Amino acid sequence: MKSINRRKFLILGTSTTILALGTHQLVKNLRSNNNNFSNKSYALNSENIISSQNGLLEATLEASYQEVPLGNRTAKLLTYNGQVPGPRLEAKPGDKVRLHFINNLSQSTNLHYHGLHLPPTGKADNVFLEVKPKEKFTYEFDISPKQTGGINWYHPHLHGLVADQLSGGLAGLFIIRDQLDEIPEIKAAKEEFLVLQDFSLYDNGNLLPANRMPLMMGREGNVITVNGKENPSFSLPENGLLRLRIVNASTSRFYNLSLENHPFYLIANDGTTLEKPIELSEILLTPGERIEVLIKGDKNPGNYQLVSLPYNRGSMGMMGGGMMGRGMMGNRRNNIDNNTPIPLATITYENGVTPLNLPRELMPISPLPQPQTTRQFSLNHGMSPGVGMAFLINGEAYQHNTVQTQVKLNTVEEWEVINTGVMDHPFHVHTNKFQVISVNGVPNPYPTWKDTILVRRGERVRIRIPFEDFTGKTVYHCHILDHEDLGMMGSLLINT
Ligand code: C2O
Ligand code: CU
Ligand code: CU
Repeated sequence: MKSINRRKFLILGTSTTILALGTHQLVKNLRSNNNNFSNKSYALNSENIISSQNGLLEATLEASYQEVPLGNRTAKLLTYNGQVPGPRLEAKPGDKVRLHFINNLSQSTNLHYHGLHLPPTGKADNVFLEVKPKEKFTYEFDISPKQTGGINWYHPHLHGLVADQLSGGLAGLFIIRDQLDEIPEIKAAKEEFLVLQDFSLYDNGNLLPANRMPLMMGREGNVITVNGKENPSFSLPENGLLRLRIVNASTSRFYNLSLENHPFYLIANDGTTLEKPIELSEILLTPGERIEVLIKGDKNPGNYQLVSLPYNRGSMGMMGGGMMGRGMMGNRRNNIDNNTPIPLATITYENGVTPLNLPRELMPISPLPQPQTTRQFSLNHGMSPGVGMAFLINGEAYQHNTVQTQVKLNTVEEWEVINTGVMDHPFHVHTNKFQVISVNGVPNPYPTWKDTILVRRGERVRIRIPFEDFTGKTVYHCHILDHEDLGMMGSLLINT
């Protein structure tokens, strides 16, 4: 409430007043936006959504360091267009996208479109681009007509800085609308988006610098937010359906989701629809992953808590633990106790609607053909020459000028990803999605397309990937972004 009023005030106030509030930068940024790019209105509505119009999604996205409302405090974070999370982009298959990106941070950055099937080169989903401080860059690409409806997201991807920038707040949704949204039961459901983020903050709202040990484990923040709010409420129509579309935009934190007294009906994951809803009481959502669930409003009207249940993702043993947190910096907030359920949001019953059933069928998934090539990737950490302790794939830390894996366009490969380490690693591949074949030899229980898959310690996960449409250099990596920055990434060259 407070924050909304303050925002209005900022927009209405004179520049002198605004200066007094210490938000000179915001004003400057708003001005520079107006000066440097055409005055087209970008269909930005009050909920901070930018949608494509007549087949074109055009927007200005500016990264800058700003004071923003976060939960019940003001925090100084890294923002897109002064918002945490950034604006929600919405487009359809086949649309053109033109994003005027401005870097007003003090360090280089870039954009990655996680989940979108795009060229990994040129002005599209090119993570090797560097946009320097004060520079601008216009991203231009077409959403593939093959892209299916679902949740994707954008975030920075400059190797070495990804975790710092993401944990500072830089992330936003990129939604593709498609047939999924037209399935009658889904269309009738109430739709809500939940962007899960965590931040490491001092009491005064400044970001805590990360130190080495927590980085090894993957940093976890002491403030958890959903859409920039702490424990927000979402309403569920009695007898109706609530469609929760959730992304884990945290650097390292896992969310083991569970809703009091209500099962989840999983309908999509990582931006791809399942064949039919799957009933689950808990869903583990690792960094980078997305899910869509339906909730049935068939219980006693009231308030129900969405929580993250305890989950052990491993530890560095003697080396890791312990060091995190205590003392040294004084006014930092306490760490969150990961051994008890952590409240994330409250689901509140509202006035009833005519009873809605779950959809029976969603979208068919055809299995991929037999692979032409199989490969293994083993995940672990260890000493790396010239780097010290690093995170490794097949014993190697990422190097800019080496190509770790080469594949051929229009082939299907099967990758066995083996975790020989002591921590869980969510494995992510850019550009093409994959089907999950088996985990420790056990066939995956239902057909699914994914782009990020958890490989628990000791596990072997087999995935099958078709390399389609685009050639060039792309990457695969652990989506605990501290691990990615510390070397757990490989480059993948797709050749003709
Ligand atoms: Cu969401 Cu390569 O990342
Ligand atoms: Cu990605
Ligand atoms: Cu990892």
